[in-house]
Order: sequence, then structure tokens, then C-alpha cells
Amino acid sequence: MRVRILGSAAGGGFPQWNCGCPNCRGVRSRSINATPRTQESVAVSSDGSEWFLLNASPEVRQQIESFAPLHPRSSRHSPIRAVILTNGDLDHCLGLLSLRESHRVTVYATESVRRGFTEGNALYRTLERFEGQVTWQSLPLGVERLLELDDARASGLTIEAIAVPGKAPVHLERLRSTLPEDNIAVRIRETATGRILAYASAVGEITPTLCAALAGSDCMFFDGTFWSDDELIAGGLGTKRAEDMAHVPVGGVEGSLEALRRLAVPRRIYIHLNNTNPLLREDSPERAKAEAAGWEVARDGMEFDL
Ligand code: MLT
Ligand code: MN
Ligand code: ZN
Repeated sequence: MRVRILGSAAGGGFPQWNCGCPNCRGVRSRSINATPRTQESVAVSSDGSEWFLLNASPEVRQQIESFAPLHPRSSRHSPIRAVILTNGDLDHCLGLLSLRESHRVTVYATESVRRGFTEGNALYRTLERFEGQVTWQSLPLGVERLLELDDARASGLTIEAIAVPGKAPVHLERLRSTLPEDNIAVRIRETATGRILAYASAVGEITPTLCAALAGSDCMFFDGTFWSDDELIAGGLGTKRAEDMAHVPVGGVEGSLEALRRLAVPRRIYIHLNNTNPLLREDSPERAKAEAAGWEVARDGMEFDL
């Protein structure tokens, strides 16, 4: 399985347009050891020719341009077979509206994520310019299904969605309560090799079900939004704790570094990094601690074979 990280930052990106925190200022002025990042999206492929995007970030156009295998191969074409949505947050969905140039798009999502994006959303009509512009494919929880190419040919990959504690997208918070289908991890399995990629970029709580889904994978991506629970408060940048935003922090006694220490997964990568996270600094003590525990920190353009 080929894996390419198109974007590795949390919502807002790094640097974020309205942020003057030490990390954002430092990366703008190139005075810290860190590289800019676009918002989270990962491309996967079994054959290197047909691709699936995990999430469609607001920077999807730039991300496609940054990676030649995603470029069209004829006058109207895209090697992107489908987009898989792991939740309905705008940093994961907004890019769908940029894929509107009268091209058929397939989206894999749970029922609540599909409804959250399509219902009451006047802008969604831009993806209804012609009959069949968007094909929604369901992601039932706990059921492995094939990822299909447009004409129902097999892609060589399967997907299974696992419910993960999260929350309704910010723009729906006041309209309804959180549903179990609002936030998922996925396991993508390559049928020819049996290799498994586990992807959990938003994790509100580390549950036994999630651990079971991560265990036995060959590589896992995990929520690296915040190093500490009070990162936004301590930086004078906001009032919410990591837990209020349904993100388990990396550090601390209850953080993911500690909680996942004994999970047998050979390759482990933090993704969806908020611009405040000290992990972004390649020479920070936090980065050294994560690397010593066997973790990598995702950066845009990282690519590997699984
Ligand atoms: C999150 O990851 O918590 C969300 O992307 C936040 C947001 O939508 O602003
Ligand atoms: Mn996010
Ligand atoms: Zn910042």
C-alpha cells in the first residue's frame, strides 16, 4: 500500500492565518526548527495509480498539485477514486466543495456525516449540478467493505469504520447532540498483502474498541492535535481544553503516548497537529520524548510503502 501525507496540520493549518503564537510567528520568520503544514489529508493507493483520499481539506487543490500521481492523465480525469470522511469537521470536508468542476466524486462517510454535510447546506448544490455528480457510499460501523473504483471494480483495498468518541462538528453543535457515527477511525486493508493502515486523527477518548482496531495494524496514524490539555489556555489563545474539543492530548499521564505505549504497532505517526503543539518543533524536548517512544510526527509530503 502506498501512503502519501498531503496535509498534516489540524484545522487552521500551520501557520494559521490569525495566529501569532510563538510557533506560528517562528515558522513565518523561519526562526524555529519547524516546517509549515497544510490541513490533514492522506492519500492511499494499492497500485499507485488509483487513489483514495482520507479527508478533503480546505487546501485540497494545492495538495493535489503537490503530488504528481494525483494529476489528471487526460483532458478530463482524476486518479482520485473517492474521498473518505472521518468526521464532518470543516477541516475534513470543506475541500469537497472545491472538487466541483463538473466531475463525478465518490464519498465514503457514515450516515450522520453525510447528512451533516448535505442537509440544509445551500452550498452543497454546487455538487448537484448534474444527476449522479456525487455518489455517497455508506460506512457501517464495524463492518469491513470493499473500496470500489467507479465501475465497481475492486480497488484492492477494504475499509472498516470504527466509532471513536468525538463530537458533532462545530457548525452543528447547537443544532443537535453528538452521535456515535459523528467521528470514526478507519482500518484500511490491502487484500493482496494483508497490510493494514489504521487511521484515527480525531480521538476524544481511548477506548478498548479503538485499541482493538489499532492493534495488529502495520501502521497507525493518531490524533496529535495537542501536546497538553491546556495548551490553548496556557498560550492565551482560547478557553477550551483539549477534552472540550474531543482530542486526547499526546503528553501527560493520561495522554496517548502513555496510553498506547504497549500497543503492538510497528509504525506510529501523529497527525492533525495544532499549530500550538510543541511537537512541531523538531528540536523540542516533547518531540524527543515522542520519538524515543517510537513515534513519528507527520509532515506534508511524507510518503512510504506499507
Ligand atoms: C477539530 O479538530 O476539533 C475541529 O477541526 C475544530 C474546528 O472545526 O474548528
Ligand atoms: Mn480538526
Ligand atoms: Zn499559532
